[in-house]
Parts: sequence; structure tokens; C-alpha cells
Amino acid sequence: IQALFQPKFLAGLKLLVTAGPTFERIDAVRGITNSSSGKMGYAIARAAFEAGAEVTLISGPTMLPTPTGVRRIDTVSAQDMLAAVNGEITHQDIFVSVAAVADYYVLNPSEQKIKKDAHILTLELAPNPDILANVASVANPPFCVGFAAESENLLEFAEAKRRRKKLPLLVANLVQTAIGADDNEVILLDDDGQHRLPRANKSDLARSIVKHMARLYNRYHP
Ligand code: CTP
Ligand code: CA
Repeated sequence: IQALFQPKFLAGLKLLVTAGPTFERIDAVRGITNSSSGKMGYAIARAAFEAGAEVTLISGPTMLPTPTGVRRIDTVSAQDMLAAVNGEITHQDIFVSVAAVADYYVLNPSEQKIKKDAHILTLELAPNPDILANVASVANPPFCVGFAAESENLLEFAEAKRRRKKLPLLVANLVQTAIGADDNEVILLDDDGQHRLPRANKSDLARSIVKHMARLYNRYHP
């Protein structure tokens, strides 16, 4: 019912969003993951649907219900998430990469549960593909939005990331204020510079981000 009252900034557009953490298997019962509840990504999916977009949500493991009107695809590892994104990316107008993708996976996960002993256990980790950088570097990419949680030097690190991944828009926040919380405080970085959004709950913040995103999208695609 909320959706009825929101302005349709994204009417007629297809939007793909990733959310939540990824989980990289170590053995039959263990894995490596990132701290991410998925709340921000799900809020973006919900806000985009309210704004009139056709929304596909590619999610890592979360405890959250699927937002009304949103098509959801579940994934576990970064490789799964990349495969799901590649399967959906054609014909998307906008890609919003909110997922906290694990930067590494375990090279030789064990089929069986690893038994403990008194020695040091060494895991070999190999780098995961960068899903967002891959999508942003194709010919005629969708409008790409990144998220960056930093623990220090927020603006400097986030703007460097935006340029490295060639993103028209990046949403930056401090990890200390964001993870697991119901509200957040973010700075939007685009070619015009910085736009600081006041602290708000993730639903309101998502609506503000979607509105800004739609304005920029229309500027790049008149
Ligand atoms: N991202 C991605 N695939 C990865 C890593 C990151 O799609 N393998 C996306 C995230 O969804 C986010 C953006 O890239 O939108 C920035 O993620 P972040 O972890 O902050 O940046 P990294 O490039 O991984 O750099 P680092 O972790 O070293 O800060
Ligand atoms: Ca990372």
C-alpha cells in the first residue's frame, strides 16, 4: 500500500540490486562471511519498486522477507552471485550493488567436517571476482551504483573506489554507524561532488538514494 503514495521516479525502468553478505565455504559446517544484515539492499529494492521500477533482488544469505513486488534470487557464494548477476544483467537499466561480497574464497574447501587438532590450521584464500567492476566495465553498461563501507578515511577511499570502478554514483558510509543498525548516515558521491544525507532509518534513506539515482540516471539518459 505504501507503494501507491510514492512518486514514480523509476517508472518503466528495470533495476537489479544485490544485497546481503556472501558465504564462502570452508568445510561441511563452516564458512567465511562478511558482516551484513542485508537491510540496506532490501530497503533499496523496496524503494525502487515503490518508485515504479521492475526490480530483481539477488540476495546472499539473510533472514529478511522478500519485499512486496520484488523478484528475488537467492545465492550463497560470490561466484554464485556473479553467475546470477550475469544471468540477469542484459536489459537492465540500473544496477545497484549493495552486497557485501567476500573478497576471498577458500581454495580447497573440504567435503567433510575438518577435525580439530592442536596445530595451526592454514586456509588458502584466492580473490573473488569483483561483480560490480565487471558489470561497470562492459560496453554500454547499465547505470551502476556502488556502496562503500569504510572504517577510516571515508571520503578519500570511497571516491578512489568510485573512480576505479567507473561509477556515476557511489554511496559511502562508515562501517561503525551502519552494520546491522536500522538507521544509517551516508554521503552520496557523484561527478558533482559530495551530498551528505542526514541520519535516517534505512527505508527513508533508501527513498532519498533512489530519488537521487533517478535524477542522475535521467541526466545520463535524456
Ligand atoms: N563489490 C562487488 N564484488 C566484489 C567486491 C565488491 O560487486 N567482489 C561491490 C560492492 O557490492 C560495493 C562495491 O563493490 O558496491 C565496493 O565494495 P567494497 O568492498 O567497499 O570495495 P572493494 O573494491 O572490495 O575494496 P576493499 O574491500 O579493499 O575496500
Ligand atoms: Ca571488499
